[in-house]
Amino acid sequence: MSLLELNDATIKFGGLTAVNSVSFALKKGDLFGLIGPNGAGKTTCFNIITGVYKPTSGEILFEDRPITGTPPNKIAKLGIARTFQNIRLFKSLSVLENVVVGGFLRHHTGLFSALAYLPPAIAETNRLKEEAMELLRVVDLEHVANVRSADLSYGMQRRLEIARAMATQPKLLLLDEPAAGMNPMEKEELNRMVRKIRDEHNMTVLLIEHDMRFVMSLCERIVVLDHGEEIAQGPPAEIRNDPKVIAAYLGEAV
Ligand SMILES: Nc1ncnc2c1ncn2[C@@H]1O[C@H](COP(=O)(O)OP(=O)(O)OP(=O)(O)O)[C@@H](O)[C@H]1O
Ligand SMILES: [Mg+2]
Repeated sequence: MSLLELNDATIKFGGLTAVNSVSFALKKGDLFGLIGPNGAGKTTCFNIITGVYKPTSGEILFEDRPITGTPPNKIAKLGIARTFQNIRLFKSLSVLENVVVGGFLRHHTGLFSALAYLPPAIAETNRLKEEAMELLRVVDLEHVANVRSADLSYGMQRRLEIARAMATQPKLLLLDEPAAGMNPMEKEELNRMVRKIRDEHNMTVLLIEHDMRFVMSLCERIVVLDHGEEIAQGPPAEIRNDPKVIAAYLGEAV
């Protein structure tokens, strides 16, 4: 049984086919990579998986049920959470509050109801705070729990996004360029964290990343897009030596 399946997923924006008949499947517990040059359609894949866009054709299945065209809040409730390529934190809220808000979204549908509930629902807030602290420990941010998220370094903000996505207790975690802007040491830490999230928090992970060393050392299977087309799929050792992949990345280090 697959956890997530894309069957010939296609989306067109006017004359541009951003994702063209892409098919891949993730099993529960997979650490799966989605790579490709700029504009290949990677983020758009996340957008059609999470219901931001409805595919023009093709089908998306989650736990063997079709979710094509399901609105984003329902998809989140089914157990899919994501981070964004362009970090989307509540900048004036503290690190801890950002994760607590993520947890609220598990019980309430909209962000506004989540924020409105913050002061009154004390019991729930305390429980969520404890859970949030646990998650901050996972991404090594507990020491900055009360810092305004805008004051964090870029790398820390990326890790906070992951903790916030995890607060909805997803089965599937989609990470859009989690290592972007990180230094080599932070990337190594992140590598360890993502593995731990999969191993100890029982989450399946699909991640987009440009850093080839990072993807190849972390992911067990990789799908490669180029101009919306799927050009290769397989384990890192195969992908690294695939002539089509090398050609797509010509000029970039693979
Ligand atoms: N809402 C939209 N309307 C029109 N075109 C779009 C829209 N969203 C994405 N595109 C186009 O679809 C193509 C794929 O974009 P996408 O953001 O998925 O690429 P990507 O693989 O994530 O690239 P990057 O590595 O630069 O983030 C691009 O040509 C982009 O301009
Ligand atoms: Mg992108």
